[in-house]
Amino acid sequence: MPGLSSALGIVLCWLYLVLPHFAGASSGPPNMVFVLADDLGFNDVGFHGSEIRTPNLDSLSAQGVRLEGYYTQPLCTPSRSQLLSGRYQIHTGLQHQIIWPCQPHCLPLDEKLLPELLKEAGYITHMVGKWHLGMYRKECLPTRRGFDSYFGYLTGGEDYYSHQRCYENKTLNISRCALDLRDGEAAATGYLNKYSTHLFTERAVDLIANHQIEKPLFLYLAYQAVHAPLEVPEPYTQPYAFIKDKNRRLYAGMVSALDEAVGNVTDALKKKGIWDNTVFIFSTDNGGQTLSGGNNWPLRGRKWTLWEGGVRGVGFVTSSLLKQKGIASKELIHISDWLPTLVHLAGGSTNGTKPLDGFDVWKTISEGSPSPRVELLHNIDPLFDDSFP
Ligand SMILES: *[C@@H]1O[C@H](CO)[C@@H](O)[C@H](O)[C@H]1NC(C)=O
Repeated sequence: MPGLSSALGIVLCWLYLVLPHFAGASSGPPNMVFVLADDLGFNDVGFHGSEIRTPNLDSLSAQGVRLEGYYTQPLCTPSRSQLLSGRYQIHTGLQHQIIWPCQPHCLPLDEKLLPELLKEAGYITHMVGKWHLGMYRKECLPTRRGFDSYFGYLTGGEDYYSHQRCYENKTLNISRCALDLRDGEAAATGYLNKYSTHLFTERAVDLIANHQIEKPLFLYLAYQAVHAPLEVPEPYTQPYAFIKDKNRRLYAGMVSALDEAVGNVTDALKKKGIWDNTVFIFSTDNGGQTLSGGNNWPLRGRKWTLWEGGVRGVGFVTSSLLKQKGIASKELIHISDWLPTLVHLAGGSTNGTKPLDGFDVWKTISEGSPSPRVELLHNIDPLFDDSFP
């Protein structure tokens, strides 16, 4: 019966073509989206009682596990270096301040980084946003450290619209501004006046929409928001006319734009059909900068200090893969824990890294088991000067 067998052939062929797509959407190693906010303070999210409205962060975290015993480093470069290396900065030469624009230094090239390990585990790896782990040699760039694609800026901060970084060093007699925005390794011109929270979200949404779901996705989305300078399109500040302090009002608008951005990214994951097999992580890189609109109440201190306000971080995990949901975990978790946690979740191996300081905390987050971490090292910095900034 040639008619029947060819019909059967068509059905089998259809199953063969279609099933892997369903399979890719619901099983196999999970997609991972890691959103890192910059300088977001403890009292700057609705779910910590802030006057700033963050409906997306509130509802996402309510569906997942809020990390209420979560620590970061007090500064950008150290936190980011630990996130990607799983190692304390005393082991990587990054224990003093940050990498300044003219410093010939980067996260050491013999460190094996999270995106490299995930690539080995079969992931497509993308990074969007702030790098701040050095750029004095091409080998230091994100595209050479495990990311299949990169769109963002390499220094620690810049203008949200012109994407220029200005730098002054009186000792070296340097004072200049330059474009710091890259698509891959090339300078990305043509984005003048495009607000970075919008720009990075658009890129993230594009990457998600174009992702080939046969392979799992790792997206590291490191927003510029809500680091100084305090810049935001005016409509975002309108709900905050009641805030008298101008810095705080602008900052609140910036947080609202960030919250909207997170909503857009999660919508894109849902539209793509991969949300149910995604682990979504949100974290700040350090405490809020109270000199530029941030607020860490009731914690003392700010970014750049070792008080709780400098190192206790806002963070949560949302995923249908979590065994417990709607929980606030008080267990001790540190930013260096993400590397082993995510690599194991990916079914990968941490072979090739140097001795890790991070712990796999997935069972702590997902099942509520006690954290394997009982202590953490904040820093050892013989040059520490707390009068700065
Ligand atoms: C979110 O998406 C909406 C609709 O496309 C867009 O108008 C808005 O600018 C986006 N927000 C951000 C922060 O990217």
